[in-house]
Amino acid sequence: MCGIVGYIGTQTAVDILLGGLERLEYRGYDSAGIATILEGELHCTRAKGKLYNLREKLEREVNPARIGIGHTRWATHGKPEEHNAHPHRDSQQRVAVVQNGIIENYQELREELKSKGHEFVSETDTEVIPHLIADILAQDEDLDDADRFLKAVQTAITHLDGAFAIAVLCVDYPDELIVARQQAPLTLGFGQGEFFCASDVTALVPHTHTVLSLENGEIARLTPLGVEIYNFEGKRLKKTPRTLDWSLTTVEKQGFRHFMLKEIYEQPNVIRTCLDAYLNPHWHPQDNSEVSPINLGLSEAMLGNVENVQILACGTSWHSSLLGKYLIEQLAGIPTMVQYASEFRYAPSPITPNTLSIGVTQSGETADTLAALETEKQRRIALDSKYRPRILGVTNRPESTLAHMVDEIINTQAGIEIGVAATKSFTAQVMGFYLLALELAYRRQSLSLEQIETIINGLRHLPRQMELVLEKQEPIIEELAHEFNDTQDFIFLGRGVNFPIALEGALKLKEISYIHAEGYPAGEMKHGPIALLDAKVPVVAIAMPGIVYDKVISNAQEAKARDARLIGVTVIDDLDASHTFNDILTVPRVDEILSPMLAVIPLQLLAYHIAARRGLDVDQPRNLAKSVTVE
Ligand code: F6R
Repeated sequence: MCGIVGYIGTQTAVDILLGGLERLEYRGYDSAGIATILEGELHCTRAKGKLYNLREKLEREVNPARIGIGHTRWATHGKPEEHNAHPHRDSQQRVAVVQNGIIENYQELREELKSKGHEFVSETDTEVIPHLIADILAQDEDLDDADRFLKAVQTAITHLDGAFAIAVLCVDYPDELIVARQQAPLTLGFGQGEFFCASDVTALVPHTHTVLSLENGEIARLTPLGVEIYNFEGKRLKKTPRTLDWSLTTVEKQGFRHFMLKEIYEQPNVIRTCLDAYLNPHWHPQDNSEVSPINLGLSEAMLGNVENVQILACGTSWHSSLLGKYLIEQLAGIPTMVQYASEFRYAPSPITPNTLSIGVTQSGETADTLAALETEKQRRIALDSKYRPRILGVTNRPESTLAHMVDEIINTQAGIEIGVAATKSFTAQVMGFYLLALELAYRRQSLSLEQIETIINGLRHLPRQMELVLEKQEPIIEELAHEFNDTQDFIFLGRGVNFPIALEGALKLKEISYIHAEGYPAGEMKHGPIALLDAKVPVVAIAMPGIVYDKVISNAQEAKARDARLIGVTVIDDLDASHTFNDILTVPRVDEILSPMLAVIPLQLLAYHIAARRGLDVDQPRNLAKSVTVE
């Protein structure tokens, strides 16, 4: 949610900042701006709308500055207009700030600063920061103090309540870029005589693989000579950068029209990598060995004696968590609750003993999920050992804030996802839950070794089966998408293990095509949603052979009787389905418990092709952002 980037070095800052913003645009894209210092003056250019508007404006300027900050915005306070775009400046145009996050006490600060003569030109919370810093600098007359700018930012921060990552420039200090982090991500990049900062490493990979993520309560001074890091109290810290093992191809489209399509196609390999990482290759049930078939690398303290599981997540990650609940309850027999992180924060469920708490997040930065996990940790910390916090993170971003705050993580191996609509991160999270449920089932002996082996064999076949779905179904779905040019509503039905897939199919469609779509447990349709059905409302039913198959077919028939156009997601050669549905999207025959991994792919492709056909911005749908770092 909002991306910030900063540069100091020997190259042209504008080019580096624009390149960085392009790679951060998935975090917000309703306006953008940059500020640089050139010949003792602050230069600021901002534009409403997507980054190309800013790029176009900058093409008309010659600006060889070697220091600058940039921002791409997802509006929180104030409409997405140019005057609300970052960077924001003080009244004298000496200090410029970009921020990601929310300053909760900005109204108070604004009134206080106004009473001292500061003039505000935006409706944003951020604008108080440059005014505050300028105010502090004006009061400090010790112009010889080499740390004057750093100290002013440090002091300003003590007045701010909320979550923020900031980067600050001051014309009086043209060789210093000050950055700080409090509850919003910020990573530093180290080059040869040049230094960077960015909300996400995606902006850094083209320039350097040597990076360091700031932690909450840290502030850094970047100069052409190096980087100094301090805590908010001013104590200098010694920190060692790490090396990223990423290649540039991860953040490029590689010939695909959109990142979303590329990421849909990456799913089979993500699942392969996940299985290679976590399945014990030497395990065999007949060996009757003491060795677990799964090795997620989790400790006994995390997985021993689990009586309850509680999962906290948002959006698509909440859907994968619903599948996690199904798997943990059905395979390992452990009662499991799934809660929206944003709800849990203010109405936590009653505390239960011996509870494994799991936070699931693709970005590893979702503010609601992080705060819910913190609530869970704090309310347990002082209690006796039965209630001690044991918090597990499930994420594809092992370097994220989540990974730092939880006790242990399952790295789902999906790597970074750029398309705003989650696809590969979803299937990878679900795979993480299959493996976790199996590991718990093995420990508790809730399944026989032979049952575990059958499921593992099924998992091993999934990557190839996913490839087949992509190969065979994409042309069919692309064609089918033409028929929904004027459709305004869709209903998705699923039951049992595929109910979360109905929710996910509906969410994918609404986020990128702006078609109203709802997912329901198929049996619930007759309790209300059936009133919506007529010939204009297509119904997608997920009908996979298994215990709820006949029920789903009957529910689909009920929709057909109301003239709905029926699209079935089912297995190849299913006769019942061919009689029931108007259109059939098929996947290879698999055990019901594994079927969500295949059933979701046609739904991802359907959403993608309907949106692409409507000419919509699939990777950056309106009003959304990839990383939701505000409450
Ligand atoms: C949907 C989507 C969002 C996210 C949600 C949580 O395609 O991407 O619903 O799933 O914002 O984000 P993470 O997983 O980063 O916590």
